[in-house]
Amino acid sequence: MATPSCLSVFLLLLVAFQSAMMNANTVLPPPRCRPVLASTREKFEFASNLHILKAELFLRSSVGRGINDISPGLVQGPAPIGAAVADLDNDTRKIIEELGLASVGHIRAIVNLTSLEAPLRRPLLNFSAQVFSGFFDVLNVTLDPPFNFYANTNSFLFAAVYFSYLLKQYYAGIMSSIVGNTERELAAGIGLYEAASYGALRSQLYDRANSTVQPYPFTVENVSNLTAQIGNQLGGCGVKDEGLIVPPPLGAEGRTTTNVIAADVNSLAYKRTEREILRIVFTTGNATRPGGAYPRGFAGTLYQRILALNQS
Ligand SMILES: *[C@@H]1O[C@H](CO)[C@@H](O)[C@H](O)[C@H]1NC(C)=O
Ligand SMILES: *[C@@H]1O[C@H](CO)[C@@H](O)[C@H](O)[C@H]1NC(C)=O
Ligand SMILES: *[C@@H]1O[C@H](CO)[C@@H](O)[C@H](O)[C@H]1NC(C)=O
Ligand SMILES: *[C@@H]1O[C@H](CO)[C@@H](O)[C@H](O)[C@H]1NC(C)=O
Ligand SMILES: *[C@@H]1O[C@H](CO)[C@@H](O)[C@H](O)[C@H]1NC(C)=O
Ligand SMILES: *[C@@H]1O[C@H](CO)[C@@H](O)[C@H](O)[C@H]1NC(C)=O
Ligand SMILES: *[C@@H]1O[C@H](CO)[C@@H](O)[C@H](O)[C@H]1NC(C)=O
Ligand SMILES: *[C@@H]1O[C@H](CO)[C@@H](O)[C@H](O)[C@H]1NC(C)=O
Repeated sequence: MATPSCLSVFLLLLVAFQSAMMNANTVLPPPRCRPVLASTREKFEFASNLHILKAELFLRSSVGRGINDISPGLVQGPAPIGAAVADLDNDTRKIIEELGLASVGHIRAIVNLTSLEAPLRRPLLNFSAQVFSGFFDVLNVTLDPPFNFYANTNSFLFAAVYFSYLLKQYYAGIMSSIVGNTERELAAGIGLYEAASYGALRSQLYDRANSTVQPYPFTVENVSNLTAQIGNQLGGCGVKDEGLIVPPPLGAEGRTTTNVIAADVNSLAYKRTEREILRIVFTTGNATRPGGAYPRGFAGTLYQRILALNQS
């Protein structure tokens, strides 16, 4: 017999079913662009690989320190390979240090507010200059001498923007599927910070759009166009990154060529799934073939599942 509480459960299910049906009109992305089934905890664990990279890269490149110097006991694992202090102007160095410190806070918040426990496993990270110069091989662009992101502010900003952007895109993608109020607040708190981090660094790059990227003859604008194409090609799921100056059809409302913030046709944030991100940071275009900044892949169960299911 239908008691009032049975009825309300039924009505709830009906509403859920109807909204699922209404959403059925949305076109599913191709299989290689769909997220892998994962728990909220696994998603944060996956993201922590990116936060650890960002914290280590930004702190080591700006002030020569690492996560353990700031917050001992938070992460544990092999020290990053090939780290160096970048040749940055003073203002940029302060910004990069700030964003690196913030990433330590994000890792601590994840440990504090999810069931993941400190120390988080730090994956092996490769910060050799050749890792980033390897990106350009994807387009068969030969840079002579090879690209060295430590060499000057313009060069470093490309690497810095890139990792902020991937974090922003990952959170944009997982936000709607995070379970639990605390966890949703955490994802919003971190995701919005990463969006701001991306915006701050992109506007630094935009201010320099016409200056050359030493020692090459081309401009920051030219290189922004290349790095966007490289990410799009490696990710393999369409245009989700754009140069700083674009033809009007790609600009906001089709009415501008400036493109400080890359976004879709309605200027909504582009999303990238975990496999798209792995294909890019590995620089292999294959989510199960580690390389690039992560020579031994990611830590955590979501990555292990991707390997086990051969979800390249
Ligand atoms: C940058 O900072 C260093 C060390 O604090 C200082 O010696 C140098 O004068 C600063 N350079 C500029 C251009 O402000
Ligand atoms: C951990 O979370 C609790 C509850 O949100 C908070 O009271 C505490 O200050 C946090 N600790 C740290 C170290 O962030
Ligand atoms: C780190 O990257 C450099 C440049 O690509 C490479 O030569 C080196 O073998 C890498 N180290 C590891 C441990 O993968
Ligand atoms: C780069 O060169 C390789 C090997 O010649 C080729 O397979 C690939 O399509 C080229 N990529 C681009 C973007 O031109
Ligand atoms: C770059 O140069 C173009 C052409 O001279 C100019 O219109 C544009 O304002 C410059 N952009 C920046 C960010 O300085
Ligand atoms: C670089 O950008 C300029 C505009 O700033 C453009 O005219 C030129 O064609 C670009 N060069 C390359 C190699 O993309
Ligand atoms: C690169 O620049 C060209 C010419 O302006 C443009 O057509 C193309 O969309 C740009 N690509 C990206 C990824 O921004
Ligand atoms: C991705 O890499 C794995 C491991 O190297 C390999 O087995 C698989 O065939 C690759 N997938 C594609 C599509 O190349």
